[in-house]
Amino acid sequence: MPLPMPLPDAGRPIEYHRYSDPMVTLPKSNEPCWCGSGKKFKRCHKDSFQAIRAGKQTPLRSVPDSIRKPTWANGDAVERWDEPAVKSADVIERMRTVGREAADTLASLGTVIAPGVTTEEIDAFCHNESIRRGAYPSPLMYPGGSNPFPKSLCTSVNEVICHGIPDNRKLEDGDIINCDVTLFLDGVHGDTNATFYVGEVDPASRRLVEVTRECTARGIAAAQPGNQLNAIGRAIQDHAEDNGYGVVRDFVGHGIGEQFHTDLQICHYFHPHLTNLIEVGMTFTIEPMIAMGSWKAKMWSDGWTATTADKARTAQFEHTILITKDGPEILTTPSSTQGHPYWDLAGLGV
Ligand code: MF3
Ligand code: CO
Ligand code: CO
Repeated sequence: MPLPMPLPDAGRPIEYHRYSDPMVTLPKSNEPCWCGSGKKFKRCHKDSFQAIRAGKQTPLRSVPDSIRKPTWANGDAVERWDEPAVKSADVIERMRTVGREAADTLASLGTVIAPGVTTEEIDAFCHNESIRRGAYPSPLMYPGGSNPFPKSLCTSVNEVICHGIPDNRKLEDGDIINCDVTLFLDGVHGDTNATFYVGEVDPASRRLVEVTRECTARGIAAAQPGNQLNAIGRAIQDHAEDNGYGVVRDFVGHGIGEQFHTDLQICHYFHPHLTNLIEVGMTFTIEPMIAMGSWKAKMWSDGWTATTADKARTAQFEHTILITKDGPEILTTPSSTQGHPYWDLAGLGV
C-alpha cells in the first residue's frame, strides 16, 4: 500500500541503518550490461529493452449478489475504524481461511502465466477463481489513484514496482511479473503476492527474484513477538543491500484484518523510530519490493502504476502473517506447496 499516513517522525531526518544507496541506473551504451554477461550494454540487452507502457483495459467485471462485498464494491468510500492490532480468536480463524484461499488463488495463476498471455487474461482468471471460492477480489473498485482500481488483481511487469493495472499487453518471453491477490471472505482480507518468470528469464533477473524471496523470508523470520517492528526492515535491507539491491521506500506492509489496510505500517528498510513492539495476535503483511537499481519510484498518471525511476527491474513477494507466541505464522500458505516453489520458504530461514 502507499504510505498514506505520516510516520511518527515525519519531517525529521531518518538515520538509516545502512548508508549504501545503490543508485544504479540503466547503463550507457558502452558500459557493461546490467545482466552480468560482461558484454557492453549495446551488444547485449539494449535493443531488447522496452519500457512497459499502459495498454487498453476491458470494461468492469461484475460480482454476483451472493458474494459478501466490502463497502467500496459499489463505489462507496472505504469504511475506516480503529481496528485493534491484536485480533480476536474468531477473526484469526477467519483470516486463516481467507489466507489459504488467497494463496491457492495466487498459486493457480501460475498455471496461466506464459509468453503471449495478456495481463487482462490473468486478471479474468483471478476474478473467476475468487468468485468460485465465494470471495470478493478486494482490489476491484478500491479507492485511490486517479480513479478506483478497475481490476481484481494487480499485475506488475519488469520495472513496475506494484499496483500495475491488467490490460491487453501480452507477456513476453523473459519478463518477470508480480501478481498481487487479495480476497475478502467472511468479513476479513487475505493479501499475498509473488513474482513469476515468463518463459526463459536471464540470470540477473532470476537472482533478483530469488534474493527478493529470501528478503521476504528473512523479514518474516524477524517478526518475533517482543522484537521492535523495525527488526523486520533491518533484516530485509541488510540482505538486499548485501546483494547490491535497493529497497523501495514508497510502499510499505500494513496491518490487515477486517480492513484491507489498517494504520499499522511495516517499513521494509530500517526505520529507527519504528520502535513499537511486535505482539502476539497481530496480523500484518510483509511485502518487500526490491530493485536492481535505485529504490526511487515514479508514478504513472493513472495514480496507481509505480515504476522504478531508473527503469531497472524490481521484484516482490508478500505474505499475510500472524504473530504467535512461537513466532510468525504465514496465513497465506497454499493448501499444497508441492510444485509451487514460490511458497516454500523452508530452507530460507522460515
Ligand atoms: N494488495 C496491495 C497491497 O499489498 C494493495 C492493492 S490496492 C489496489 O497492499 F487497489 F491496487 F488493488
Ligand atoms: Co499488502
Ligand atoms: Co498485496
